Amino acid sequence: MHTLAHFSDPHLTSLADVDARALFDRRVLLNKRLFGYLSWRKRRRRVHRREVLDVVVADMVSRAPDQILLSGDLTHVGMPAECEVAARWLRSLAAPDRLRLVPGNHDRYVAADWHDTLGLWSDYLEPAGAPRWPRLWQCDEICVIGLDCAVPSGLFMATGTLGDAQIERLATMLKATAQKFRVLMLHHSPLPDGHVWRKRLTDASVLMRVIREFGAELIVHGHGHGEHFSVLPWRKGNCSVVAAPSASHAHDGRAGWNLFRIDKQGAHWAVSLEKRRRVDGRMQSAASHRWLTSADA
Ligand SMILES: [Fe+2]
Ligand SMILES: [Fe+2]
Repeated sequence: MHTLAHFSDPHLTSLADVDARALFDRRVLLNKRLFGYLSWRKRRRRVHRREVLDVVVADMVSRAPDQILLSGDLTHVGMPAECEVAARWLRSLAAPDRLRLVPGNHDRYVAADWHDTLGLWSDYLEPAGAPRWPRLWQCDEICVIGLDCAVPSGLFMATGTLGDAQIERLATMLKATAQKFRVLMLHHSPLPDGHVWRKRLTDASVLMRVIREFGAELIVHGHGHGEHFSVLPWRKGNCSVVAAPSASHAHDGRAGWNLFRIDKQGAHWAVSLEKRRRVDGRMQSAASHRWLTSADA
């Protein structure tokens, strides 16, 4: 039995100490970070609460999962100071050999120096130095494949893109690991209609073609701040697509994480999903699903 905890979109940082004048750039009339900051002041700071995240994470850690999967959006506007705070939080959460991370669109909100921003998380993202996605984390018969779809996008846009080269490397990786339980993790939904247009994964249809051909057993993602569960048929089996909600969402019942138990039983993988949600300030199991998927890919 292998256990995977998945959570997403903690948006754990605060912009309370940010001077909006420092964000204003005369060279850029429509400054995305400035608009992001204003959005945080107006709404997001009340939606994403650190005290909620702390309850969710404590519940997750107490279950001692074999691996923890985090599908991005640790920050609000990807500023160096936010990335520093998030780096310290990551180190307090789990060691890099247990915590798998992919970035979200808010972490690469605008083009920025890698060393001052995502490079601060390199122990978790790109320990070998040269960024080359997808990343493969192998743990016995479980392969976690991390995809990077976080790209800076235009004002009021929150799209993601994988790119042809990454999808090509993914196809090779899926072929090479076909005998394993393959978990794909990315920030955006892999489904072409997974999000509204301005938040979509722009090359989802290309990704879908690769998944339908080479398969995967499970895809986890975030970005929408809501739950999702669907089954994607591929050439030799079925792949479950499961979204986790935002782990810091202040509204009752909205914040939480997902626990997957994976067990090989003969020619099948037996998978169970337990949804842990924060209700009335306390964590509880909201629902569970069980399914079998072929281990004979
Ligand atoms: Fe998010
Ligand atoms: Fe996002």
